[in-house]
Amino acid sequence: MNLEEKIRTIKDFPKEGIEFKDITTLLKDPEAYQATIQKFVERYQDQEIDVVVGIEARGFLVGAPLALELGKSFVPARKEGKLPAEVVRAEYDLEYGSNILEIHKDALEEGQKVLIIDDLLATGGTVKATADLIQEIGGEIVELAFLLELGFLGGRDQLVDYDIYSIIIED
Ligand code: PRP
Repeated sequence: MNLEEKIRTIKDFPKEGIEFKDITTLLKDPEAYQATIQKFVERYQDQEIDVVVGIEARGFLVGAPLALELGKSFVPARKEGKLPAEVVRAEYDLEYGSNILEIHKDALEEGQKVLIIDDLLATGGTVKATADLIQEIGGEIVELAFLLELGFLGGRDQLVDYDIYSIIIED
């Protein structure tokens, strides 16, 4: 199945000049959504992973079903002020603005193997902040996984320390 054609591009959202990648068109197609999760399952089912970390909000949509399929823990990385217990936090720049991400300090055990997953790799700021937080609380990052990577934005350049897997790469 061609998953790339299931993702729609919306011009000038949320700001002029941004071409927004809208995965809702993929999510509402059950076969495409299942095929997406299955791709990730195939890649990770034989790898040593303890925890799947999904990044709010769209990263939850791929991370939670994957964690369930793998039979592993799911941990959310959330936007500022949403998590109730003690957190670590990181500020990062987005393609459109800046933001803060948080993760619970007790989200994982020292040395646990972590897969970080999100729908989209654009500039890489979001996943870099998440990776920093995981390292701060003692996780070992196995790989960074994405449904779609916008290669032309060069997100990989600030992620040279990590292995990266993207189902679709747009150059
Ligand atoms: C989008 C996307 C990634 C991030 C990628 O999330 O889901 O998390 O941007 O951008 P980057 O590689 O340039 O950092 P967004 O912040 O729009 O939040 P949402 O998932 O809550 O819609």
